Amino acid sequence: MEKYPGKKKIAVFISGRGSNLKSLIKYSNKKNSLITISLVITNNPNAKGLEYAEKSKIKNYVVKFKSKSFFESQSLRLLKKNGIDILCLAGFMKILSGNFIKKFSQPILNVHPSLLPKYRGLDTHERAIKNKENFSGATIHKVTQKLDSGKIIFQKKVKILKSDNINSLKKKVLKIEHEIYPKAIAKFITNL
Ligand code: GRF
Repeated sequence: MEKYPGKKKIAVFISGRGSNLKSLIKYSNKKNSLITISLVITNNPNAKGLEYAEKSKIKNYVVKFKSKSFFESQSLRLLKKNGIDILCLAGFMKILSGNFIKKFSQPILNVHPSLLPKYRGLDTHERAIKNKENFSGATIHKVTQKLDSGKIIFQKKVKILKSDNINSLKKKVLKIEHEIYPKAIAKFITNL
């Protein structure tokens, strides 16, 4: 029998600190949440975020990035074996191939620290400040073959103050990421 009947089985890919994973675990533990986190995979043996998975007794694996195809085939096997419905990327610093996205054949979501379509890729805060933007924010979007370009599911703005620097903006945006990722997942599942 399913442990959590009706809940979507989520896998989370991380590469480091795992604060977004922590916020997803917190959401999954809520009585009315629509998800259960069944699997955590990281490419980084030293990812601090693995501790959150361990603490919550979530199955977790380090799959070394010996090559993209090695990582992807091993991960795919684990995703299929665990009957994962949705894959959530949370601070996962590798780019998945079109082949992986096609073969997995279930939705993949990502959190990005900017108001997409602005500032795809890395160094988002640095670029937003340099361009004297009045706002930044975070976006949850579907992952497609084109980097940071899939359908936007949820977005929230934050004001960039004159006094902000890269670190203060990063902190503000991260707080928003933690807030909107669970909301976006719930919205996404509700609209499936
Ligand atoms: C987040 O800001 C995410 O948007 C970016 O990397 C950071 C990961 O943080 N891609 P964490 O590992 O979830 O703490």
